[in-house]
Amino acid sequence: MDKTFYITTPIYYPSDKLHIGHSYTTVAADAMARYKRLQGFDVMFLTGTDEHGQKIQRKAEAQNVTPQAYVDHVVAGIKDLWQLLDISYDRFIRTTDEQHVLAIQDIFKKLYDKGDIYKSEYEGWYCTPCESFWTETQLVEHNCPDCHRPVEMAKEESYFFRLSKYQDALIRLFEEHPDFILPVARANEMLNNFLRPGLEDLCVSRTTFDWGVPVPFDTKHVVYVWIDALSNYITALGYPNLDGDLARYWPADVQLVGKEIVRFHTIIWPAMLMALDIPLPKQVYGHGWLLFKDGKMSKSKGNVIDPVVLCEKYGVDAVRYFLLREVPFGSDGIFSNEALITRINSDLANDLGNLVSRTAAMIDKYFPQGLIQERVAGVPDEDLIAMVRDLPAKVEAAMDQLQFSTALAEIWKIIGRSNKYIDETAPWVLAKSEADQARLATVMFNLAETIRVVSVLIQPFLTQTPPKIWAALGIPEGPQTAWESVHTFGLYHAPHGVAKTQPIFPRIDIEKEIAALDAMIIAQAAAAAAINTTDTNPSEPAATKADETATASASGVSTPNPIAPEGVALIEFDDFLKVNLKVGTVKSCEKVEGSDKLLCSQIDMGTEVRQIVSGIALSYTPEQMVGKQVIVVTNLKPRKIRGAMSHGMILCATTEQGYKVLTVDAAVPAGSEVG
Ligand code: ME8
Ligand code: MG
Repeated sequence: MDKTFYITTPIYYPSDKLHIGHSYTTVAADAMARYKRLQGFDVMFLTGTDEHGQKIQRKAEAQNVTPQAYVDHVVAGIKDLWQLLDISYDRFIRTTDEQHVLAIQDIFKKLYDKGDIYKSEYEGWYCTPCESFWTETQLVEHNCPDCHRPVEMAKEESYFFRLSKYQDALIRLFEEHPDFILPVARANEMLNNFLRPGLEDLCVSRTTFDWGVPVPFDTKHVVYVWIDALSNYITALGYPNLDGDLARYWPADVQLVGKEIVRFHTIIWPAMLMALDIPLPKQVYGHGWLLFKDGKMSKSKGNVIDPVVLCEKYGVDAVRYFLLREVPFGSDGIFSNEALITRINSDLANDLGNLVSRTAAMIDKYFPQGLIQERVAGVPDEDLIAMVRDLPAKVEAAMDQLQFSTALAEIWKIIGRSNKYIDETAPWVLAKSEADQARLATVMFNLAETIRVVSVLIQPFLTQTPPKIWAALGIPEGPQTAWESVHTFGLYHAPHGVAKTQPIFPRIDIEKEIAALDAMIIAQAAAAAAINTTDTNPSEPAATKADETATASASGVSTPNPIAPEGVALIEFDDFLKVNLKVGTVKSCEKVEGSDKLLCSQIDMGTEVRQIVSGIALSYTPEQMVGKQVIVVTNLKPRKIRGAMSHGMILCATTEQGYKVLTVDAAVPAGSEVG
């Protein structure tokens, strides 16, 4: 086989189990990989996990397990999910694979020897959850431009990659290869926001944690995430060995990524490859995000939109179909259970499912011995057949642009046309007359043949349905089910007649199903409340990220799996109840002598006055505190701070601009319970 096709997904962080957003990219890559295989390409489809870094180290610490044990567990679940979703990856890379680790050390050393990596000191604004340093100008209102959380000044000895050296070459790349990034708008974004303003060298090592690939010649450093992560696309092919799979599959034909990591894949990644003297990938495709609508179906819905639950409830093909059909690839879209159920019912159960079962049932009823050979053409045949003949080219054109939804829409037009064809030809009327037998056989043949073509064309998208259709229509796997067969109208043949089969997609009673989901949501909300799950991890695009953040959080978008923030273990409701919180009114307040930071407040708690010392003097003057209603942790063990006793704690938000005291939004009696 000469034609090769190499497609990749991002390698996902195994910091938590994956959600429907990760499934989205992976299902898209899978559809593309299957499509290319069907076309006869020798496909390499790579996915995997990005396992190093501080976040994961902290998660593991919070659970008292080693980082390796932590990721092993999550990765096993990820592999199960991919199996469930019928993901046909050819290789699964883990950045903890020994071969990868050695290759990263080799890359780091090569770049160092070449002078493209050098040692210096880094000082900058650092976003811990995103593990990213930002320049002053990149900050948005002093917050991380990606997750919008506060950043902190951080300084450390680091190795740097000379990214700035590649600025001109990258600009040229963008200008000369308009196809390098798709959709096109993302290329302009990169040029205008990053490349033209000027690239800074990239910090590529860390000394503040050790869960990473050690820098081979300076082992107190670990390789910082992007060199480790991005290189996976070549280490998975055997790099530094340039022969074998690397020679065979590299450069990648298309690398799928969510839009939030386009920058890393179209600036840092090509620069690294240039430095290593390796050809660049042909294309990076930055798709949009699936967002979650709020309302009663969202906030605390727990695993209602866990892909595993969806697959169990509606079947793998329903989930795959929805992901690929609902939103044009490249754009953002909303995931909702209503939309999913509606698609399943209308497109899958009504349109496709019905067409197949009606056709199979009619063939079985009218021609129990098999279709007779005589044919009599009729008026609507030509229109149907012409559409079927045009279909493969339309599907291929859409797929070549990764427009999965367009490809499916084209296929479903034929399905709609076929259902109309049944109404136009009224086979049940033809069946009544002996003289119309040949016409009836023709109609049945045209329907079965159209369905055959459809069943072959949907193979990249739906993995379980095509064999079910073949069984229903008595089509043996072989020449009739080969990809090339779609170019010929007239191959349908059921050597053993049609079989009586179950409906392919049982119809869902929408109201009942929504009611069931609602019940599930309520149960999960109760469970979620019991563990006091917080509103997800803002560094994940599913929740809130970059430009979507404002609207996303305004509409209460949440991730499918409420999880504890990074590095924080979930607690039981009982644990939460151990903390006693009350509203208090600050009666008086003064600075603690000998300290710049401490204020000592006398707080009216309704039944008593408490003295509390807090480190908020840089944010509030004593005068500003007086009269405020604050939230007090009342059952902390008393502590002596700088000679003053403190009986509790005042809750504050920690922000870039210092502390902000938590308060109530209307005056309440001192001593009111919180919780
Ligand atoms: O970023 N909608 O890993 P990650 C669409 N390890 N796609 C989504 C999505 C959503 N709501 N949520 C996640 C990382 N994705 C790095 C990548 S690559 C060398 C290193 C998909 O676990 C999308 O593809 O945060 C996004 O880019 C990816 O998951 C991020 O996964
Ligand atoms: Mg991410």
